[in-house]
Amino acid sequence: MTKRVAILISGGGSNMVALVDSMRGDHPARAVLVVSNDPDAGGLAKAQKLGIPTASVDHKPFGKDRAAFEAALQDTLEAAAPDIICLAGFMRILTPDFTAKWDGRMLNIHPSLLPKYKGLHTHARALEAGDTEHGCSVHEVTAALDGGPILGQARLSVSPDDTPDTLAARLLPLEHGLYPAVLRRFAGGDRARVDLQG
Ligand code: GRF
Repeated sequence: MTKRVAILISGGGSNMVALVDSMRGDHPARAVLVVSNDPDAGGLAKAQKLGIPTASVDHKPFGKDRAAFEAALQDTLEAAAPDIICLAGFMRILTPDFTAKWDGRMLNIHPSLLPKYKGLHTHARALEAGDTEHGCSVHEVTAALDGGPILGQARLSVSPDDTPDTLAARLLPLEHGLYPAVLRRFAGGDRARVDLQG
């Protein structure tokens, strides 16, 4: 049975495009919805061009009421009945109540070699630490921010003249290779790690 995948974005959605493009042919999943918390996210137009239904649940009107925002998000998601949710450049922190609803069915890509550098500004932190290796991780989403079981990682060497921007730019193509590879396995019920070297 083909798995239904909803993808959550906040911005340009380059990881969403890579995921949607990968779900073709004998792939066990198909994208059924792209949702953004920012109605102006550039990724929404990209999803529409790819023929994927889109929605936006603007978090701003809800203010600090995370529960109300998540209730609206949940309603939007339930209407599409996804089997799997992929967070792809989704920049809102989700509460344990929400993550519990999708436990074992929600993935995220994070731009660091977890468990190093959970949270924000990962490239700058890796450079400040003098790391010679950096990368990205795809993990299951749990109540612990960026803390769920890791399903795949892609690594690259840090060069001495790297800046946070050059590192992010060199890492993004690796993300676009890693996330689809993990999703294909995960949708097929295979949780064996994917490890890539850039
Ligand atoms: C990427 O670096 C991803 O790791 C992080 O958000 C950034 C932008 O992703 N989660 P996208 O281009 O919006 O997919």
